[in-house]
Amino acid sequence: MHVDAVSAANVLHSGRIGAMSSSDTAAQRTTPADITAAVEASFEACADPRLREIMQALVRHLHGFVTEVGLTEEEWRAAIATLTATGHITDDRRQEFILWSDALGVSMLVDALANLRPAGATESTVLGPFYVPGAPEHSYGEDIAVEPAGTPTWVHGRVLDLDGTPIAGAELDVWQNGDDKLYAVQKPDGPEDHLRGRFRTRDDGSFAFLAVRPVPYPIPDDGPVGRMLDATGRHPWRPAHIHMIVRADGYATVTTHVFDAASEYLDSDAVFAVKPSLQREILPRAAGDPERPEGVDGEWASLEFDVVLVPAGEAGEPTDPGRTA
Ligand code: BEZ
Ligand code: FE
Repeated sequence: MHVDAVSAANVLHSGRIGAMSSSDTAAQRTTPADITAAVEASFEACADPRLREIMQALVRHLHGFVTEVGLTEEEWRAAIATLTATGHITDDRRQEFILWSDALGVSMLVDALANLRPAGATESTVLGPFYVPGAPEHSYGEDIAVEPAGTPTWVHGRVLDLDGTPIAGAELDVWQNGDDKLYAVQKPDGPEDHLRGRFRTRDDGSFAFLAVRPVPYPIPDDGPVGRMLDATGRHPWRPAHIHMIVRADGYATVTTHVFDAASEYLDSDAVFAVKPSLQREILPRAAGDPERPEGVDGEWASLEFDVVLVPAGEAGEPTDPGRTA
């Protein structure tokens, strides 16, 4: 019987219409919708309007989700255990909460809402957990590999504004994994500055550095996020890419990647961070190629990637990412 009908039947049964006794009140049933409404209303007096909006929407969506799937008590307990495990595995070097955000596409959604750049500007993408500020400063063309880590790859291009005017003195803060699939920050015993560095553009906006051909790698999958991927038939792999944050005075900082256009997993990135505009061909080059960079022996590769910045304030993005692990 519908809840309102139950209440009406109780009133009729008691033979009275009017003020209810405490036993009448006790007979009224509380519905799931009553619970949602009460929790939403509990934030009505919140003095900060933005906080009120966020908390009330959170309650509506969270309760809507629980109601829609009919979450069982056992599933609720499993969810709490997953959150607890996420807290336990998180420390200064491992951020499993952000990994959830990445694997559920929330990081990319927040990025897309914050970074509305005009057509022609370099698109942003996820920062990831392996960025460490303070990479060593390098000169044009220098090698970021401290030890052998794969096929040497000459990465070059220009930093331009939307009109194609070169931006001199822009900073490119770059980092990547090696052919062991790992970033320097994942190897506490390895050289700290391996495969990371900061470069400045020359007067004509040009930059170049010697990297290694990036390879696909799995996001950390030995924790709760990995168990979710496994249980749902998803894989943890990211397509091959090189990260960069590009900064220039008067321009909006862009946090992005350049992807190897021939990589596996471009269509199924575990963190949904691939954008077609960020894919570039990596050209294999022979040892005898006359353009072979200094210090390279044997086969190498090259990758060209121009970066187009928009004036500060026109991308609506946060000033600079500071995430360190
Ligand atoms: C990365 O590209 O470094 C990354 C991004 C999100 C999650 C894990 C790794
Ligand atoms: Fe990465």
